[in-house]
Amino acid sequence: MRTTLFAGLIGLLAPAVNAYASGLKLVYSLDLATQGISISGGGRKFLSQRYSTTLPPQIVELLNDNTTVLYPNEAWNSYNSSDPTSNPRKTFVSIDGARIGPDGRYWVVDGGSTGVNGSTKLVGVNLTTNAVDKLYYLDSVKASDSGVDDVRFSASGKIAYLSDTAGALIVLDLVSSHAVRVLVNSDSALAWFPMMYNGTLVPGYGGADSTLSVGLDQIEVSPDGVYLYYQPCNGGLYRIETSYVDAALTNATMASVLEDYAEPLALTPSTGGTTIDGDGNIYISDTNLLAIWKVTPEGRATILVQDDALLWTDLMWVTADKKLWLPASQMRPGSNGLMAEGPNYIFTYPIDAGPSPIDHA
Ligand SMILES: *[C@@H]1O[C@H](CO)[C@@H](O)[C@H](O)[C@H]1NC(C)=O
Ligand SMILES: *[C@@H]1O[C@H](CO)[C@@H](O)[C@H](O)[C@H]1NC(C)=O
Ligand SMILES: *[C@@H]1O[C@H](CO)[C@@H](O)[C@H](O)[C@H]1NC(C)=O
Ligand SMILES: *[C@@H]1O[C@H](CO)[C@@H](O)[C@H](O)[C@H]1NC(C)=O
Ligand SMILES: *[C@@H]1O[C@H](CO)[C@@H](O)[C@H](O)[C@H]1NC(C)=O
Ligand SMILES: *[C@@H]1O[C@H](CO)[C@@H](O)[C@H](O)[C@H]1NC(C)=O
Repeated sequence: MRTTLFAGLIGLLAPAVNAYASGLKLVYSLDLATQGISISGGGRKFLSQRYSTTLPPQIVELLNDNTTVLYPNEAWNSYNSSDPTSNPRKTFVSIDGARIGPDGRYWVVDGGSTGVNGSTKLVGVNLTTNAVDKLYYLDSVKASDSGVDDVRFSASGKIAYLSDTAGALIVLDLVSSHAVRVLVNSDSALAWFPMMYNGTLVPGYGGADSTLSVGLDQIEVSPDGVYLYYQPCNGGLYRIETSYVDAALTNATMASVLEDYAEPLALTPSTGGTTIDGDGNIYISDTNLLAIWKVTPEGRATILVQDDALLWTDLMWVTADKKLWLPASQMRPGSNGLMAEGPNYIFTYPIDAGPSPIDHA
């Protein structure tokens, strides 16, 4: 009798032990859906928490005691669209991408809100003073349908590349603040198919039969700064030499023909987010198979790890101890539109390289 009961208990417990794919480790379980994690060279952790069904998006620092505190402060996270005294120029209106740049600043992309001047911006936070000391408003370079979404930097740290989900790339000179919008309507930048989630098309916001299509979203820069990689959300990864992209800032001809310099690299899947390691391998989160792909600099694409828990993994991170950090954002088609209630997990997975020096300073 006793033996049977014991065996029965083991049977119940065993699946919990092996719950995740080999190597995948649950590290954090958070109160709020977490879209992204950025980890500074000194080990400070910043989270972008955007996909709440009830709360506005926010940036928090995850402290050593595992509590969170609004970052850089409460004021930046205080935007209220129904309050006319709320200042969209000095608050996060619609947080999307976030990154620690080669200069060591924590950079946040605020996609803003249509018609709200000063809301679309790139915000740089100094991690020593914990104060915003760089601000680039993007009103003059964006288009009416732009969705400014994510950011990466040139090796010099002087140029920022921002994705625009309308299907374009914004190149911003951080020294002069001059910016150009390129690859507009290029086949390489436009969504050529709706996104997929767990085997089916993702429903859109336009009624019963609509589907979700998202243009140029993911961008990465190779560790040597030579290539910019980019793709629309439905996949199809291209690369282009940054020397051509950077020249578009000052050469209008180059800006208009930039797509001629783009080379297809790999046929990637519907993607939640990407990151790059110090060897130049790109990690792509597959929203359809609930997996992470690895694409080498030569364009060889394979599935690295697959698990149902890797649910719409978004802004990943690579740390010096050769771990890939995977926030499962929980964005998915459901009763609350494209958001769902938990579990809000962050996983790690071992990889063969540490961070890229120009991406994870
Ligand atoms: C915080 O979370 C980390 C990672 O899961 C864990 O190692 C650590 O023990 C936790 N610290 C506290 C104070 O709970
Ligand atoms: C937002 O502003 C409106 C109008 O001033 C106010 O009624 C509401 O309580 C505010 N919401 C929050 C979360 O502060
Ligand atoms: C936003 O800026 C545009 C262009 O400068 C201006 O025409 C418009 O009145 C501004 N809107 C608001 C709400 O301030
Ligand atoms: C951040 O602020 C500190 C103190 O003012 C300054 O020394 C440092 O250069 C700043 N960092 C950057 C990246 O500018
Ligand atoms: C500008 O770009 C065009 C197109 O690539 C190129 O032919 C031309 O030489 C460039 N002009 C300068 C001044 O570099
Ligand atoms: C994916 O779809 C299958 C088949 O409908 C379902 O059993 C499974 O629970 C779904 N997985 C997730 C993570 O939604």
